[in-house]
Amino acid sequence: MTGRVGVGFTLQPEERYLTLLDRELREEPDYLVVAPETTWKPGDEEAFAPNGYHRVFQELKRETGKACVAHGVGFSIGSAVRDEERDARWLARIARDHALFDFRWYTDHLGATVLDGRELTLPLALPYDDEACAAVGLALDRLQTIVPDVGFENSVFYFHFGDPLEEPAWIAQVLAGPGRHLLLDLHNVYTTACNTGFEPERYLERLPWERVIELHLSGGDHSDPGWLPSGRSLRLDSHDHGVPDEVWALFESALPRCPNLRGVTLERMEGTVEEDDVALLRGELRRVRRTLELARA
Ligand SMILES: [Fe+2]
Repeated sequence: MTGRVGVGFTLQPEERYLTLLDRELREEPDYLVVAPETTWKPGDEEAFAPNGYHRVFQELKRETGKACVAHGVGFSIGSAVRDEERDARWLARIARDHALFDFRWYTDHLGATVLDGRELTLPLALPYDDEACAAVGLALDRLQTIVPDVGFENSVFYFHFGDPLEEPAWIAQVLAGPGRHLLLDLHNVYTTACNTGFEPERYLERLPWERVIELHLSGGDHSDPGWLPSGRSLRLDSHDHGVPDEVWALFESALPRCPNLRGVTLERMEGTVEEDDVALLRGELRRVRRTLELARA
């Protein structure tokens, strides 16, 4: 880790979240993370139109003077066949948003969220092969026509095509080239490690650390045993609880390995913040900053 690394916090399109955390969003982070498509609604045939949160987030940016980072959820960077018309509309909207928010970098989630024209809620796993590598590379190329620094986050998948420990080497293959970065979500690594039975370090030791531009910290819950016929409970990347000790430990071990890190973001899902959670989140944001200061020292 070299240079100054910022502390980030997620903006969520939910009035209660923004009201309860107003002071924390204004006072604690260096930058705010926006999922651009959560600020859109279907517009006319040509474009996505801004929804009310588009203006709310812009006002917060203007009032606080904070930088913004984009973390998309729906470009579907892993789709093997791209919908050209959808891509054109999507990119045109991102270009307009970039002009307003001046995104420092733009990431989406590894995986496919559109298959055969159907929009999926969560990203589906990709095979770790050359074809998927080329598909993700094409999507990143398109994003890079608007924001120079782009990349993706390692997602949590509940089934995999192959051994998840093959993923880091494949990520290195996809990210070869200028301006391509990894958003390393440490809770996602921990969650996949818990669910598939490996030590997180075995994944981390295979990563292209020089590509890591941002770290994500968050917490999660466990699935209801009644969801699966086996009665098995899985760890979820639900972003609805505090950061667990195991992820704080991964954070401390990760920092010295990231020469090009620019930000560390605390994530929290909308609909999961009550009054009792505000002090916890403020404390977590301060712990991120303290940990960064210690690592720099
Ligand atoms: Fe994340």
